[in-house]
Amino acid sequence: MIRDHQVILYYGDLSDSSSIVRILAECRPDEIYNLGAQSHVAISFEAPEYCGDVAALGVLRILEAVRMLGMDKTCRIYQASTSELYGRVQEVPQDEETPFHPYSPYAVAKQYGFWIVKEYREAYGMFCCNGILFNHESERRGENFVTRKITLAAGRIAEGLQTHLELGNMDAKRDWGYAKDYVECMWLMLQNDRPQDFVIATGVQHTVQDFTERAFNVNGIQRVWKGSGIHKKGYDTSSGRMLVCVNPQWFRPTDVVNLLGNPSKAKRELGWNPMKTSYEELIRIMAVHDRELAKREKAGSSI
Ligand code: GDD
Repeated sequence: MIRDHQVILYYGDLSDSSSIVRILAECRPDEIYNLGAQSHVAISFEAPEYCGDVAALGVLRILEAVRMLGMDKTCRIYQASTSELYGRVQEVPQDEETPFHPYSPYAVAKQYGFWIVKEYREAYGMFCCNGILFNHESERRGENFVTRKITLAAGRIAEGLQTHLELGNMDAKRDWGYAKDYVECMWLMLQNDRPQDFVIATGVQHTVQDFTERAFNVNGIQRVWKGSGIHKKGYDTSSGRMLVCVNPQWFRPTDVVNLLGNPSKAKRELGWNPMKTSYEELIRIMAVHDRELAKREKAGSSI
């Protein structure tokens, strides 16, 4: 256990029921937000069993612990479901009624999590909700997710610390929002009158290539694209230097390529504003933050 002035951290693990029961028995929370998972889609192909244990059975372990401790009528539960459930999409845009077609071990595990939450709501009357969140990014995003990989590289390239950036599928389309706004919506879901599932998205879609372009623009670098498919490359318009290329190493065995959410229900029923932070502003926040990191790295100070 680690104590701060306002936050107490406990050691536990979603693959370890006893630790979940122990922590919940001690805290007896009014609200639980389960954001725990092996959340990197590409890595779930490398460690599928672990991913299933944590992202699928981990949800069940929390629900059962809440029931066993007699907190099923007092504790509200938020489950981080995901737009990856739509996977090989059946329609565009996707809303709460769109059928799922999970397309990775991660998404298959998350599908179990989605349905077990629904099941406990219906079977035991528990207040548990799924937030079907589309991609939510920020300056705190892990460095191996595409947006952060791009903004970090753009800053380092602008500072002369890196020569170029290698990406996988640049044609993939995502509905990217700002994580801070999405967390607010998670909270709203648990303050609602009744437990329901909600799509949380901006309703605007862009390609990985577009995100890359704009992140470089924030750093004052303009680019021109040449070639297509695995031969696509981005060049600095002023120096002619190659800055971006494709490396098939980053391709996935199956890739989700067309995510676009319809947040109408969250707007209508929760009063949530999906456009609080625009796509352009999100990229600016991340790119400016990561340029600062690059400057500090160049200056030799710790980051
Ligand atoms: N990570 C990564 N790295 N992705 C790349 C790259 C690369 O170099 N190049 C292209 N991509 C493409 C991926 O193939 C994918 O289509 C897209 O960029 C986004 O990849 P990620 O940023 O890794 O996120 P994700 O969409 O797979 O999953 C994230 O969002 C989900 C919500 O919809 C994760 O946060 C999941 O945990 C979350 O559920």
